[in-house]
Amino acid sequence: MSLTALKLYAKQNNVPITKDDTMEFIVDYINQNNVKTILEIGTAIAFGSISMAMCESVTHITTLEIDTTNYREALNNIAKHNMLDKIDARLIDAKWYLQECDQKFDLIYLDGPKGQYINYLPRLLELLNPNGTIIADNIFFHGMATGEIVTPSSCRSMVNGLRQYVDEVTHNPKLETHIYQLGDGVCVTRLK
Ligand SMILES: C[S@@+](CC[C@H](N)C(=O)[O-])C[C@H]1O[C@@H](n2cnc3c(N)ncnc32)[C@H](O)[C@@H]1O
Repeated sequence: MSLTALKLYAKQNNVPITKDDTMEFIVDYINQNNVKTILEIGTAIAFGSISMAMCESVTHITTLEIDTTNYREALNNIAKHNMLDKIDARLIDAKWYLQECDQKFDLIYLDGPKGQYINYLPRLLELLNPNGTIIADNIFFHGMATGEIVTPSSCRSMVNGLRQYVDEVTHNPKLETHIYQLGDGVCVTRLK
């Protein structure tokens, strides 16, 4: 099954996956920075983890998914791409994994529950290797987080959480953050 087939499945089944321009940006980042180990929060059907695992420098990806249907589909897709030895897919709420994790990573790709990024952040910083990076996707949240679109009450706490995350990573003097106008907004944060 090709990546195109994964994208088609995602479209037909309304599974959100990383947009093409954002994925290209991440793959370029991995190649340019010799990224070896990755933690991805939010596997969905493993489009992102398989795309990242195709980069030559990458030796291991741990990817976390809370939804059983997505997780099963992800496992099938990882197996079909012969990547079971490179991608460790876990069915778990990211908050529990972060508590128990004793590994460190070169890159953490945040593509899960947007409102939780701010709560995850202190632990994520502990789990980064020196010069490690966090890439957070969807930080504009369809224009709601930037204020271009009025946030419905159902999304308010998530949007507030996302704004707090961006505020913290852009103002924390120990971090260097760049925001890219790609896809739905990409936030790249490095330890100084
Ligand atoms: C945007 S999709 C991920 C897309 C994937 N990164 C890709 O590019 O193919 C977000 C996923 O995060 C999962 N998710 C939401 N809350 C989560 C949590 N607390 N822990 C782990 N996964 C979670 C959702 O079930 C969903 O499948």
